[in-house]
Order: sequence, then C-alpha cells, then structure tokens
Amino acid sequence: MMARTQNVRLSAALLLGVAVAACNPTPPTPGLALGKELFETCAPCHGDMGTGDVEIDAPAIAGLPQWYIEAQLRGFQAGMRGMHANDLPALRMRPMAMTLNRDGDIPSVAEYVAGLPATFPESTLHGNAGAGAERYAAVCVACHGPDGRGNELLWAPPIVQLNDWYLVQELQNFREGARGADPADIWGQQMRINTFALDDQAMADVIAYVQTLR
Ligand code: HEC
Ligand code: HEC
Repeated sequence: MMARTQNVRLSAALLLGVAVAACNPTPPTPGLALGKELFETCAPCHGDMGTGDVEIDAPAIAGLPQWYIEAQLRGFQAGMRGMHANDLPALRMRPMAMTLNRDGDIPSVAEYVAGLPATFPESTLHGNAGAGAERYAAVCVACHGPDGRGNELLWAPPIVQLNDWYLVQELQNFREGARGADPADIWGQQMRINTFALDDQAMADVIAYVQTLR
C-alpha cells in the first residue's frame, strides 16, 4: 500500500517535471554569463561597449548602477516609458525590454551593463553652464548630489556619464509627460515636478553645468 502511494506520488512528480520542462526548456542560470549573452541583443543600438549611438538616440548606458538599469527596464516593461506616441526613442527601446521575460534576465543584463566601464561622451550642446550652476545648486543637488553621481536612497541616477543630448531629451520627456506621468511611477513623478519651471534653454544650461562635474 505504502509502496503504491509512493509510486503514484513519484509519477505525479515526474509528470509535473516534464510539464515544467516543456514550458521552460533551458532555465538559464542568472549571472554575468547570461547577461553577456543577452547584451548581444542590445549592442546593435547601445554599442558593443554600451557607449550609445546618437543616430538612433540610444544613450551611453555603460557603467550605470545595476539598481537603476533594473528599475528602468522594469519601467519600460510596465509601460511607464515607451508608451507616449511622440516619444520615438522610448518606443524603440520598449520592445527590447519586453524580450527580457525570463526570471533572472533583467538582473543579469543589468549586472553586465553596470560592469562595463563608464564613458563620458563629449558635449554636443552649447548651454550656459554658469546659469545652469545656480539652478543645479537650488534644485537638482538635493537628489543628484553635488557631484552629479546620484543617490540610490532617492532612486536618483548618476547623470554625469550620460550624453548631454540624451539628458536634455529626458528633461523634455518629463516635462511633456512622456516620462514620469504614470501614477504608478513614484520616482519618475518625483523627478517630473522639477522640470515644469524649465524651458528648453534652461534645460541646456543646467545640463551644460552637469557636464562640468565630471
Ligand atoms: C532598437 C535600439 C535599441 C535596442 C536594441 C536596445 N535599446 Fe535600450 N534604449 C534605446 C533608446 C533609443 C533609448 C532611449 C529611450 C528614451 O529616450 O527614453 C534606450 C534606453 C535604454 C535605457 C535607459 C537609460 C537611462 O539612462 O535611463 C536602458 C537601461 C536601456 N536602454 C537598456 C537596454 C538593454 C539592456 C538592451 C538589451 C536588452 C537595450 N537597451 C536594447 C534603444 C535600444
Ligand atoms: C526629488 C529628487 C530629484 C530632484 C530634485 C531632481 N531629480 Fe532628476 N531624477 C530623480 C529621480 C528619482 C530620477 C529617476 C526617475 C525615473 O526612475 O524615471 C531622476 C532622473 C533624472 C534624469 C534622467 C536620467 C536618465 O538616465 O534617464 C535627468 C536628466 C535628471 N533627473 C536631471 C535632473 C535635473 C537637471 C534636476 C534639477 C533641475 C533634477 N534632475 C532634479 C530625482 C530628482
């Protein structure tokens, strides 16, 4: 009797095992190796070393902190970024985030990107860094820090290593509501309110100042 019950349990367990294996043929082991493999799908836009490509509005993501990369990939997946009809760059990025759909995909690729050496792409805009400095000290410093390296406790990313054109574009996205407008996007909303008082010139000025913090 005992043996029979065990047999039944065993076959049930085996069947379950087969069913699980059929849905998920090769459960990947999370980590750097998986991250490197996944990054091959990112490289066509962000570059082999994550240094970005201005032609397709893809920013330099190399060396951003893992927590921030993970949060943004989840934000794209949840539709907090990449849903606004006018936001073509984010519309390009969102389907890529959607492909990271297995457990461990996001942390693995984020760990890999975080480990790539940060580059500090050259300035392309001509803002007035002096005017920007005042605004930065009055507003931005509270979250992004005096050195622009961010503050994980406030979910504020480092902004010194990103392309100036990308940073201005994101400030505009926040202001226009393409980013940070979703009620579920707690951190994006915190950032968004800081852009309402900025016109395009003020944005270029404050980012020109950020570039001097490197
Ligand atoms: C088709 C081109 C393309 C591919 C492929 C692509 N991206 Fe992107 N990515 C972009 C663009 C364009 C943006 C800028 C989006 C915006 O302006 O909001 C972006 C933004 C990002 C951001 C936000 C950076 C920030 O500072 O907030 C992260 C993180 C990111 N991509 C990671 C990845 C990863 C990881 C992959 C591979 C799984 C990937 N991307 C594949 C085009 C691409
Ligand atoms: C209350 C805290 C806070 C203040 C003040 C603040 N930020 Fe932010 N900032 C954030 C947070 C949080 C994020 C990340 C939002 C998200 O997850 O989408 C962010 C994101 C950004 C981004 C996008 C970076 C990227 O990689 O896409 C830029 C650019 C930026 N901030 C610039 C500024 C500037 C310039 C100021 C001053 C005018 C400023 N921030 C003031 C908290 C803040």
